[in-house]
Amino acid sequence: MEELVFTRPDDWHLHLRDGALLEAVLPHTAAWFGRAVVMPNLKPPVSDTDRARAYRDEIRALLPADSRFEPLMAAYLTEDGDPADIVAGHREGVIFGVKYYPAHATTHSAAGVRAIENVYRHLEAFEEAQVPVLFHGEVTDPDIDIFDREAVFIERILEPLRARFPGLKVVLEHLTTRDGVEFVKSQHGAVGATITCHHLMYDRNAMFQGGLRPHLYCLPILKARPHTEALRAAATSGLGMFFLGTDSAPHLKHTKETDCGCAGVFNAPVALSTYAEVFEEEGALDRFEAFASLNGPRFYGLRPNSDRIRLRRAETTPPSQVNVPGEGQIVVFEGDRAHRWVPESASP
Ligand code: NCD
Ligand code: ZN
Repeated sequence: MEELVFTRPDDWHLHLRDGALLEAVLPHTAAWFGRAVVMPNLKPPVSDTDRARAYRDEIRALLPADSRFEPLMAAYLTEDGDPADIVAGHREGVIFGVKYYPAHATTHSAAGVRAIENVYRHLEAFEEAQVPVLFHGEVTDPDIDIFDREAVFIERILEPLRARFPGLKVVLEHLTTRDGVEFVKSQHGAVGATITCHHLMYDRNAMFQGGLRPHLYCLPILKARPHTEALRAAATSGLGMFFLGTDSAPHLKHTKETDCGCAGVFNAPVALSTYAEVFEEEGALDRFEAFASLNGPRFYGLRPNSDRIRLRRAETTPPSQVNVPGEGQIVVFEGDRAHRWVPESASP
């Protein structure tokens, strides 16, 4: 196949940050994706309708006048947040979904949930109003090995939650394990999951290949090879509950190349080419559109984007870094090699 023309894709899990970082990274997503679910882990967190509206305005103000990119705002679930405010924001179309961070699970998650019982009243309201809840699915118990945190979260939190709130719309974000794949499949379409391009490409050995690789350090952490294989099979299966979410998470280079570096992979500039390479390797380019452009909207009850883009087979070299004026650089995932697919506009 020399080119792939398909429905414009969406990114169902994205970190855009704010201020100068936002300005530097936004064009890389807005150029190719129709919509993106924008994560709320700013400082302070985007935890209510007013903040979500203000953040959406900040993003929209940076888009070119002819851009059709639509930021979909996730609200940060806090134990003392007001569920009625979130439900009202959702009805109004400001809040797309709620992001559940276990407290201290990842970057800027200190305001997250300490115990799920503390947000039962919120989840009840979200179930009733059909507000999707997007889970960072990792336990934070220091006794649980970092490679097991997703599997234990499913067992301890998600399985009981599905029984208690059977009508709640649940997405397990940035899926990383075979356990996760099996759980999602077993829920008969009621639970969705996003999968990143870096978790499809690499297993945990890559973090230590020839030395320590801070730019491959993210959360949930890369897992052992059999998990990577299970994710590749799930993403390329065509099954409707698996969809594209890059978890592109920009951090300035000096905050990753240090003795206690931040978690996050910045993949927005290469997201489409890296996903396409994985699908090509799996002989599944014919299922790429389902994963990238159709499954997500169907799960969320939205229409797919109405226009199309093209991926053309041609060797191309992405930027290796993105400059943030006055702040530094962000290292681009896979930015140091040639890529096989170039995205292009498919309109005449
Ligand atoms: C994300 C970030 O930097 O905001 N980091 C990451 O490693 N994925 C947070 C997150 O999604 O866990
Ligand atoms: Zn994320």
